[in-house]
Amino acid sequence: MAFDFWRRYLDGIPEYLARHYWWAYLSPRGVWFFDHAPIINLILFGQYRAILNEVMHRYATRESPRTLQLTCAYGALTPTLALSANTRELHVTDVAGIQLSSAESKLQAISRSAKLARMNAESLAYASDSFDSVIIFFLLHELPGAARERTLNEAIRVLKPGGHLLIAEYGENRGIHWLHRCTPWRGFQEKIEPFLRDFWHSNLAEQIAGHAIRQGKPLQAMAEVSLFDGFYRVLEYRV
Ligand SMILES: C[S@@+](CC[C@H](N)C(=O)[O-])C[C@H]1O[C@@H](n2cnc3c(N)ncnc32)[C@H](O)[C@@H]1O
Repeated sequence: MAFDFWRRYLDGIPEYLARHYWWAYLSPRGVWFFDHAPIINLILFGQYRAILNEVMHRYATRESPRTLQLTCAYGALTPTLALSANTRELHVTDVAGIQLSSAESKLQAISRSAKLARMNAESLAYASDSFDSVIIFFLLHELPGAARERTLNEAIRVLKPGGHLLIAEYGENRGIHWLHRCTPWRGFQEKIEPFLRDFWHSNLAEQIAGHAIRQGKPLQAMAEVSLFDGFYRVLEYRV
């Protein structure tokens, strides 16, 4: 049936991703359209470079023999990580083959390589304590609550003791930012991003701390950098 057409993308893809984000991450036209710097910058209200620079600035403060980019992202994150003097072995995972192909093309264009693997972030096929850094760039707000919890748990599990966790995301919605107060815009964004509302009102720092405690890993919050007056943030932890 017409309203079920997203099912054609279900090929090892979680239902929430195929149903709600097929147009952004799974359809070849969507991937072609969105993966352009001006489009990404527009979606992020002109903040793309500032967010990426903040992530890379924090990434560069620690040695990272083994780095995991937990899911692909449009734009320059993968090539920038691959070119960083800090990176020795870069792993990039995503559940969508089309996204991994796109990441591979970006790496080929700069003559760099990474270990690309197709897997669900909720259940990673990596050993515990096996990465020095894990980077999660605007993934969490796109996941339903339970999937988000499993993904955070996996990110902490695969980090070595003393490992570096970096998260770029939307800030909490405290009803202060003009974009949070703009009802038509907020309604539109919550419509196209169905898990954003829950994310906006959840306590991410508390969730991360809870997973670390349950895994017996001491967690140190190193920084929470607010960008665009708190609409975005970059979180840095030592696990
Ligand atoms: C990391 S977010 C990035 C969003 C952001 N707008 C960007 O591109 O900068 C989107 C990616 O996450 C992937 N993804 C979503 N849910 C996933 C899951 N459960 N496991 C692995 N990858 C997932 C999608 O396939 C997509 O490539």
